[in-house]
Amino acid sequence: MDITERAKQRIRTTGETLASSVFEFAKRLPLVKDRIAAEYDKLLVDLRKSAKPYADEFASSSRLPEQGRPHAELLAELESLREREEARWREGFMSGGVYHGEPEHVALLERAYAIHSQTNPLHSDIWPSISKYEAEIVAMTGDMLGSASVAAPDEVCGTVTSGGTESILLAMKTYRDQARVERGIRRPNMVAPITAHAAFDKASQYFGIELRKTPVGADFRADVDAAKRAVDRNTICMIGSAPAFAHGMVDPIEALSSYAKQRGIGFHTDACLGGFVLPWARELGREVPGFDFRLPGVTSISADTHKYGYAAKGTSVLLHRSKAQRKFQWFTITDWPGGMYMSPTIAGSRPGGLSAACWVALQAIGRAGYLDATAKILAAGDQVRAGIRAIPELELLGDPLWVIAFRSRDPEVDIYRVLDVMTQRHWNLNGLHRPACMHIALTLRHTHEGVVERLLADLREAVEHVKAHPSEQGGMAPVYGLAGTLPARGAVRDMLGMYLDALYEV
Ligand SMILES: Cc1ncc(COP(=O)(O)O)c(C=O)c1O
Repeated sequence: MDITERAKQRIRTTGETLASSVFEFAKRLPLVKDRIAAEYDKLLVDLRKSAKPYADEFASSSRLPEQGRPHAELLAELESLREREEARWREGFMSGGVYHGEPEHVALLERAYAIHSQTNPLHSDIWPSISKYEAEIVAMTGDMLGSASVAAPDEVCGTVTSGGTESILLAMKTYRDQARVERGIRRPNMVAPITAHAAFDKASQYFGIELRKTPVGADFRADVDAAKRAVDRNTICMIGSAPAFAHGMVDPIEALSSYAKQRGIGFHTDACLGGFVLPWARELGREVPGFDFRLPGVTSISADTHKYGYAAKGTSVLLHRSKAQRKFQWFTITDWPGGMYMSPTIAGSRPGGLSAACWVALQAIGRAGYLDATAKILAAGDQVRAGIRAIPELELLGDPLWVIAFRSRDPEVDIYRVLDVMTQRHWNLNGLHRPACMHIALTLRHTHEGVVERLLADLREAVEHVKAHPSEQGGMAPVYGLAGTLPARGAVRDMLGMYLDALYEV
């Protein structure tokens, strides 16, 4: 990182720190404290309402029932809740979330889970079936992501984790521990574009690794020169997304990873979202830049089976280029009174049933199934992009394939108001900021007849509605507006915490 870049970053972070310190200080002044408490109380009423929509209809338990309740009654309650929630995702109103969801496929996953619901791969001697499934899930994913192109293909290895976040956390922990042992690094940093997933911030906080965020260009892909400048001798790895959550753009991973290799550091490709789409998109003739082990500088990849791998929620794959690297992921302890203990991932006991369901998903869909699913999703992407281009008030961000972000280019159209109107029409799309925009991650749910047409028609009407009602208030628009302003950031952080509190209230 050169001096001007460093100075700019310092000013940015100092500004943010100062603003949040002022907020934290002001919060303690009695008058301000009372005002804020009153505002938060009001806010909490709304947060509770949205977090607990069933409060008036279903009895709540904050104490174990005296006697166990009848099975039929319990299952009926579950069914009734499921029914209320299912239509929204099933009919394609949701961005991402449920990636497959066809009844026959869901039934297969549920059956696989049920068959193995009592298993725990922590006890691999009792349940070697789960180790078999997991080893094969890792091998199949590695094969899809270019393990054959590595000089010693059987060196590519990995583990099944509980999701994208755990895969990323473990990859960063691995690089930290490897750098400590092999290079004596005590104050590690990692370099990632600003668009890298929040899981990297989480890894930074959990594992004490400084996260150096570098800008993206006008095409919303990582700025390679800025990333190179941010690397120093304490850098343990560089990061790129394939694609990134926000704008669906694939970073220039070839350039980034070859620089990482030149510097002798790791490079992690976050293919949580694209690992099970991009290989098939390439086979379908789409232009897909290199992102996997075919690039010699890529040393680890996260790819989520529970997204476009179409497994049940709760699995992802973390791949390493070599076993020598993976060994820094392992947790082993030899002097614990509880016995010899080893565990590959963050959890101790794990649900083997989910790994069984994941294995079944990969086997049942197969290469032809993934190719077909990807073709459908990409066709929906083409249609959505064309539809958004036809709405003059909106513009696409970058040129993504199937995770499509767009913003307003009309000062009369606040994109967050458009998001609110879409929410009133049952859509569950993602509001994003920096810059203000929203996105939809297309899944198989959107490939059913009429869904994309409904999306585009609602979007067109939502834009018209916002233009026709300039003074309409409410919804999430003010919150997004607030989150974009520095001094309010502390208040928004408090609010997010309050929402989490509300989720755990009975
Ligand atoms: C690019 C990317 N990386 C990581 C994650 C984190 O995945 P998870 O929510 O499974 O922890 C996501 C989730 O959407 C993602 O899009």
